[in-house]
Amino acid sequence: MDTNQQTNTLNPPSTAIEAHPARETPQGHQWHEAGDAWGRRARDWACLFEHYASDVILAAFAHLGIGPGTSLLDIACGSGLAVRQADSSGARAAGIDAAGPLIDIARARTPDADLRVGDMFSLPWPDESFDAVTSINGIWGGCEQALAEAHRVLRPGGSIAISFWGDGHLDLRPCFKAFAANSPASHVDGMRRTNAIARPGVAENMLGAVGFEVLERDSRVSTLEWPDQETAWRALASVGPAVPALECVGADALRPQVLEAIATLRDDNGIYRFRNDQQFVVARKG
Ligand SMILES: C[S@@+](CC[C@H](N)C(=O)[O-])C[C@H]1O[C@@H](n2cnc3c(N)ncnc32)[C@H](O)[C@@H]1O
Repeated sequence: MDTNQQTNTLNPPSTAIEAHPARETPQGHQWHEAGDAWGRRARDWACLFEHYASDVILAAFAHLGIGPGTSLLDIACGSGLAVRQADSSGARAAGIDAAGPLIDIARARTPDADLRVGDMFSLPWPDESFDAVTSINGIWGGCEQALAEAHRVLRPGGSIAISFWGDGHLDLRPCFKAFAANSPASHVDGMRRTNAIARPGVAENMLGAVGFEVLERDSRVSTLEWPDQETAWRALASVGPAVPALECVGADALRPQVLEAIATLRDDNGIYRFRNDQQFVVARKG
């Protein structure tokens, strides 16, 4: 069964609003509910969607100097692609995510990593534990408290990189519009708040508000490819923001709308290819 709520963290930007000014958990956000939604189709996410992040992880690691002798915490790590890549580079890797089934997969992939199920708004590590922190499409508008926690667990001089969908070209946009059109109004309101991070300066202001010195913003094109309709549907239905729509109207009603929305993305070889503006901001703890 596909049910849940508060699952906004993979939606494209829409209406411009300011980032939430208060250092608190976003209104209505229950980490275990977010984790429940993201864990529903964990295998499909891990095997069919997670590769969207490979370019931005590589770029962020280069900025942060991830490699032998460094320690990295990946916040909202999902099924652990960044953790696996950090471990493979020789770094000491840790990750946290609200979704137990995703952490189970991350642990199977990287048994040596320190992987925990938990809440990014209350990190279970002592102050100054890590040289670097990443969050790949895990920290969004209204998540200042998660950035404050990231700041706390970083050693002085340590760096952070956070990524999110930008306000440029997003082949995913029509698909997420289909999700939104079939979701409760309360969910769509939450999407507007979380997506505010895509606006110029919002991520920088959020990082600055919790004490970071912002170094730069950069971007990569995130590419997703699927060999056929069924695989594309399974991949897209695995994301958290699909869950409210699946709960409201059911897969039989949602599937044709999503497939119609993505029909033009199929190339002459029959491959569905999505290209998306993925931005990241790098900052340092003084
Ligand atoms: C867009 S996914 C990104 C996952 C991973 N970073 C990646 O790029 O593959 C967002 C993730 O945030 C996690 N999440 C949402 N709210 C959370 C919270 N309060 N604490 C920890 N993780 C959370 C979800 O479980 C989900 O895995």
